[in-house]
Amino acid sequence: SGRGRAGAGAAMSVFVTRRIPAEGLRVLSQASGCRVQLWDSEEPVPRAELLAGVAGKRGLLCLLSDRIDREVLEAAGPGLKVISTMSVGFDHLALDEIKKRGIRVGYTPDVLTDATAELSVALLLSACRRLTEAVEQVKNGGWTTWKPLWMCGYGLSDSTVGIIGLGRIGQAVARRLKPFGVKKFLYTGSRPRPESAAEFEAEFVPLTKLAEESDFVVVTCALTPATKGMCNKDFFSRMKKTSVFVNTSRGAVVNQEDLYDALAHGQIAAAGLDVTTPEPLPTDHPLLSLKNCVILPHVGSATYATRSTMAVLAANNLLAGLQGDPMPHELVL
Ligand code: NDP
Ligand code: DGY
Repeated sequence: SGRGRAGAGAAMSVFVTRRIPAEGLRVLSQASGCRVQLWDSEEPVPRAELLAGVAGKRGLLCLLSDRIDREVLEAAGPGLKVISTMSVGFDHLALDEIKKRGIRVGYTPDVLTDATAELSVALLLSACRRLTEAVEQVKNGGWTTWKPLWMCGYGLSDSTVGIIGLGRIGQAVARRLKPFGVKKFLYTGSRPRPESAAEFEAEFVPLTKLAEESDFVVVTCALTPATKGMCNKDFFSRMKKTSVFVNTSRGAVVNQEDLYDALAHGQIAAAGLDVTTPEPLPTDHPLLSLKNCVILPHVGSATYATRSTMAVLAANNLLAGLQGDPMPHELVL
């Protein structure tokens, strides 16, 4: 609406890069003086439309599929004050360039932790108990009778679980796995986090030791220059032949060629990936030819309730930033 103090409309012009859940859009449309330009599609905004859409705006509400780099910031111009991403991950944002321009950033931690941890457990169980492979056998007639050693996998009882990145989601995964009878938790990160580890009596170890001793490796860290390609040939070669690898963080933490080799040559037992490089993974990608690799299309946070809450939080972060108020969840740069 054009009401409110003079110039408020211009002050609250925002570009939203996707059709987000209606609850989030409602927050924006009901905010007085907020003028929304929406890329009203289920599909990502083409780059040229992003550059055109953001021009002259004060606020940008984006998704993890939008690369917000110098080019976008320059296309926006000096009026851009707030970027709100409907994600907890922020590896798609050029934070150094954003900080230089004094732009504030909002993101969506906590509200997706449970959904993502739940999906991580589902993926782990699918991979270690060979669920997708077993379902396929039922459909294609491979199920002939009950056989003692057919479709056997590995269970969590008495196991060692290694968590790479014992953050919000990493802890929520550990909390869910513990009742399955896990014997020992290991974790790694940039430094020990005794306050996070206490609940699980988790031991801080170097990455190499985590690879060597874990029966299950779960990757829940952020993608940073330090974690990019961290799970590589050396890492997989240290893992046990009977171990299972799960990644619900970002695809680029894994060297996919090295993972393919490890899975194809039986260096590790199985993998479950919710994230890949690129996304979507081409349907003829070698990883998709492997029976021991379960791949999901980045659905960690995909419950109706969680996505709705993420959208509302992203909208409220944006509005608070535009109004110069504290954001519900600001990424302090
Ligand atoms: P947090 O910031 O709470 O956790 C991130 C963790 O990464 C921290 O524990 C941090 O530990 C760790 N980390 C940072 N550097 C390293 C390193 N060099 N080695 C190992 N660990 C490291 O974030 P969340 O738990 O909320 O989210 C984690 C990530 O999950 C997000 O960044 C996002 O990419 C991904 N995600 C994926 C989803 C999906 O749909 N699959 C859904 C939601 C999130 P420390 O600080 O001690 O180094
Ligand atoms: C995130 O928020 O970073 C996830 O990847 C999607 O919810």
